Amino acid sequence: MGLVIGETGRGTYVRDLYAPPGYGQTPESQRQGVVDLAFNYPYLPKQADQLRHALRELAAIGDLSSLISAQHTVGRESERRLVASHLGARGVNVQASDLLLVNGAQQGLALTVMALLKPGAVVAVDALTYPGFIALAQTHHLDLVPIAMDSHGTNLNDLERLMSARPVKAIYTMPTLHNPMGWVMGIADRKRLVRLARQYDALIIEDDTYAFLVAESPTPIRELAPERTVYVSGLSKTIGGGLRFGFVISTSHHLGSLERTLRALTWSNSTLVTALCGRWLEDGTVIRMELEKRVDARVRQAIADEELAGLYTIRNPASYFVWLLLPPEIRADQLAGSLKRQGILVAMSEAFAATAFFPHAIRLSMGGLDLAVLRAALKQIRSEIDNYPI
Ligand SMILES: Cc1ncc(COP(=O)(O)O)c(C=O)c1O
Repeated sequence: MGLVIGETGRGTYVRDLYAPPGYGQTPESQRQGVVDLAFNYPYLPKQADQLRHALRELAAIGDLSSLISAQHTVGRESERRLVASHLGARGVNVQASDLLLVNGAQQGLALTVMALLKPGAVVAVDALTYPGFIALAQTHHLDLVPIAMDSHGTNLNDLERLMSARPVKAIYTMPTLHNPMGWVMGIADRKRLVRLARQYDALIIEDDTYAFLVAESPTPIRELAPERTVYVSGLSKTIGGGLRFGFVISTSHHLGSLERTLRALTWSNSTLVTALCGRWLEDGTVIRMELEKRVDARVRQAIADEELAGLYTIRNPASYFVWLLLPPEIRADQLAGSLKRQGILVAMSEAFAATAFFPHAIRLSMGGLDLAVLRAALKQIRSEIDNYPI
């Protein structure tokens, strides 16, 4: 009847009936019976308890009033230092003073675009890229130009051709675990990309949102070209997308305009959220979650190995994504529509396309779902493709 709620390790409690189920968050994906493979927010079941525990700890600190006060636009020094040392372990060597805390990586990207690029600026992106950057480019009226992709990633010959022909002001790249393809750019390609950016004086926007899933990734581009790279990442995929904790690293040369723009966008970040994430960075929770999600992603890819065998997929065993190329007779929109009617949501290739034409493909995001539910959904997708009426 929904009158009680159980908390692992604590017991059963009368539910607060004034709080709507899901705290009023009822996007399609959270409705009963809907399996969401469209959005990727990896989540492990124990995280709710982890949050409950952390909130209790926070409530017990002496100076709670400090969490009500606004903080400095770029974030508090202590938390910026924690992020800097966390990134150090990932091979990004940065001083706290080069770093701004933001309200999620998407805001970090928006900030970079607004602060450092003028409307109309030519920006090179992979032909298939993160939809959030495409949306940003549309809002800020950037001139997005697609770089061809080959079987292992960005085609740098095409980027070179593009840069010699057009005044490319910035390159947006996801070198470690590309969304949606799961690619990791090798060190030689990273160095070549940097050489091109230097030769044509372009900014590099390095989106490292998924890098934590790769145990040993090549040197981050920011390390190779600190003078022209803005590095953006966050904790949405490690901890949770609802918290909105991200960070931007830049050269001191750009920091002033980034800070001014951040002030214009948000004044300052939520003190409560940065305090919470700071504690998790400090007590090792973030590192533990990163390691657990690395294992979790591989378990899910192993299920995909079994259930999608024989279909043409592009994916990295370390990632949560499956890029599923459909046989030529199957249209992605029709397949997605049919799956939706059966309660399975998938993302169509169109959302990722910086080009007018896009492949017949769908992206499956495997994070967050119960493993049995994931397996059943992949089976259903498989059967839908096998039995597609021609
Ligand atoms: C590649 C990439 N960059 C940035 C983001 C935005 O992340 P955040 O939730 O931290 O704003 C996402 C989220 O899906 C993403 O996939």
